[in-house]
Amino acid sequence: MKPIKVGLLGIGTVGAGTFTVLARNAEEIRRRAGRPIEITMVADLDTARAKQITGGKVEVVDDANIIVNHPDIDIVVELIGGYGIARQLVMTAIANGKHVVTANKALLATHGTEIFRAAQEKRVMVAFEAAVAGGIPIIKALREGLTANRIQWIAGIINGTTNFILSEMRDKGLDFDVVLKEAQRLGYAEADPTFDIEGIDAAHKATLMSAIAFGIPVQFDKAYVEGITGLQAADIRYAEQLGYRIKLLGIARRAANGIELRVHPTLIPANRLIANVEGAMNAVLVHGDAVGATLYYGKGAGAEPTASAVIADLVDITRLATADPEHRVPYLAFQPDAMTDTPILPMDEITTSYYLRIRVADKLGVMADITRILADAAISIDAMLQKEPAAGETEADIIILTHKTQEKKAKQAIAAIEALEAVSGQVARIRLESLG
Ligand code: HSE
Repeated sequence: MKPIKVGLLGIGTVGAGTFTVLARNAEEIRRRAGRPIEITMVADLDTARAKQITGGKVEVVDDANIIVNHPDIDIVVELIGGYGIARQLVMTAIANGKHVVTANKALLATHGTEIFRAAQEKRVMVAFEAAVAGGIPIIKALREGLTANRIQWIAGIINGTTNFILSEMRDKGLDFDVVLKEAQRLGYAEADPTFDIEGIDAAHKATLMSAIAFGIPVQFDKAYVEGITGLQAADIRYAEQLGYRIKLLGIARRAANGIELRVHPTLIPANRLIANVEGAMNAVLVHGDAVGATLYYGKGAGAEPTASAVIADLVDITRLATADPEHRVPYLAFQPDAMTDTPILPMDEITTSYYLRIRVADKLGVMADITRILADAAISIDAMLQKEPAAGETEADIIILTHKTQEKKAKQAIAAIEALEAVSGQVARIRLESLG
């Protein structure tokens, strides 16, 4: 049986994992796919390392253009990352009628519309299981397993670096900066951790899931993105005292008038399974109208977990040649002519609950002023905690959990609270989702 020929662009951690797993499980994969899948070409600037990994068994080139233009290659696996050269290579591969597998969430979340359109015109697949939550088959679950459902919301811990940092902050009571340095030392965070700690990587992934869940185009530019850099150890501690954990969640939710698409630190009840996902692990909670809540848990990064997702896509594409090619699964789950223009809501219009930490002078009437502001804004209080001032101090923290309200109202109330004379500094505000 003629093998499907794969060209790998980039043989770093994930590329090497893909090479290893494909070789190790070749026979089992062939039985599942219906044809052998072989990496026959690899492009990498470090050709010596590429040759070492591939053991001289494949052609190694230093110019990825050779692969995307090569007539013998059926599937291009793009593992370069970023929006620059990767975009051009993917578009050329598609123009040349090649299927594409990519782990590049940044590329698809920003240029997905253009890429999927080109793929549709050329009748090739663009598969991206590895782009969201690494080894967890969440794209397949959303696109196929849950296809009967009207998806109501998705909430995911989809960035391992930040989850590791938050777990360490909680375990050890340390502040963000200290833990970040430790995470970098241990290799859990990159030397330039911006994409992870600012929530951008999670927002790329949430954007892709929102498209698949709701049948809307990928619109990273409309996502609200807030990372974990402002979180203090005190907030994690207070949240815990009130029965909550703080996680960086990627949320996509169907609201009455649009779609909420947001990434931000979030209080979640400590007794939810997802609240107990610790370290660098990922988890995604999906709520569908028929199935209810379903939870997917696993490794969101790493050589072989991500390779597991890349190879699943290779098998799916190979099956196009071994099964009926007219009945392929649409890239974004919905048929391309059945996408809707349901808007992504501006952040001011989303509804959620809030954790507020307010630093106040210990004076008569302060609490009354604060609760009055909240009542006037029709924001109902769910729980409250007031600490005595520490020895020798005159200021204390008041912690308030609110019921659900609109972001715009919460912002106005917070501004009014900050304007009170007895309140010092800014109110720490973290959103809260009960995920019930
Ligand atoms: N840097 C990501 C994470 C993995 O920490 O989860 C790749 O998206």
